[in-house]
Amino acid sequence: MPGPIGVFDSGYGGLTVLREIRSLMPGYDYLYLGDNARAPYGSRSFERVYEFTQQCVRQLFSMGCHLVILACNTASAKALRTIQQHDLPMLDPNRRVLGVVRPTAECVGHLSQTAHVGIVATQGTIRSHTYQMEIAKFWPHLQVTGEACPMWVPLVENHEHLSPGADYFVRLYLDNLMRRDPLIDTLILGCTHYPLLLPKIRQYLPASVKVLAQGGYVARSLSDYLRRHPEMECRITRGGTARFLTTEQSEVFSHNASLFLGHAVQAEHITL
Ligand code: DGL
Repeated sequence: MPGPIGVFDSGYGGLTVLREIRSLMPGYDYLYLGDNARAPYGSRSFERVYEFTQQCVRQLFSMGCHLVILACNTASAKALRTIQQHDLPMLDPNRRVLGVVRPTAECVGHLSQTAHVGIVATQGTIRSHTYQMEIAKFWPHLQVTGEACPMWVPLVENHEHLSPGADYFVRLYLDNLMRRDPLIDTLILGCTHYPLLLPKIRQYLPASVKVLAQGGYVARSLSDYLRRHPEMECRITRGGTARFLTTEQSEVFSHNASLFLGHAVQAEHITL
């Protein structure tokens, strides 16, 4: 039986990806799952991120999704490969789980003139070196410098991302990064929460540095994937709906998600 496209994030960040995917492909049905009760994932161990992500993927499968997008860099960096190689063959070899790192890595080389690229992301994503490895496959000449920004997700999750207090931490990590490699001319926002910080990121980044927010690239890559995989495309329902699930309080999620998306959201609580 066909089902919606599953979109997973540890919390609200994946909504920035869902927004782009829906604006490019509004006709499909979507099922979003935010594991807000256990967010943030960024400072957790490989084992925990893998365990939580796998649970969420299973949940989305059990609710009819044949295709799940890990709209979370931390989960994509730390759990995707194991889920694809180890779990999918046992769970259901016909289902697919895709991440956000590869579509971002694929396009970054088109943007940089200096061949020096920076990445800001969670500790987990930076320590995994997944971006460096994926970028090297497509663009081996690029020099990639990563900076972990452990305070940025809490700022977004607590709605402090546009407050004056956020300036200190936005500037701190960007200054660190640019000091480590002043030749950087392209910055990857390697965490789906970070587009919310964009006004402040632009304020503290040299004007010459391009900022790559991944939502649009992930959306185009998914559309391309579905064109190349008609056997998957025909297993997605087309009602143009989006349903939202959270492991935390649904009222809080509804309120915050409405702010992220700019329209009213009625989320449902789910226990995993
Ligand atoms: N939004 C997630 C990402 O893209 C991370 C948030 C978290 O730390 O849970 O990495």
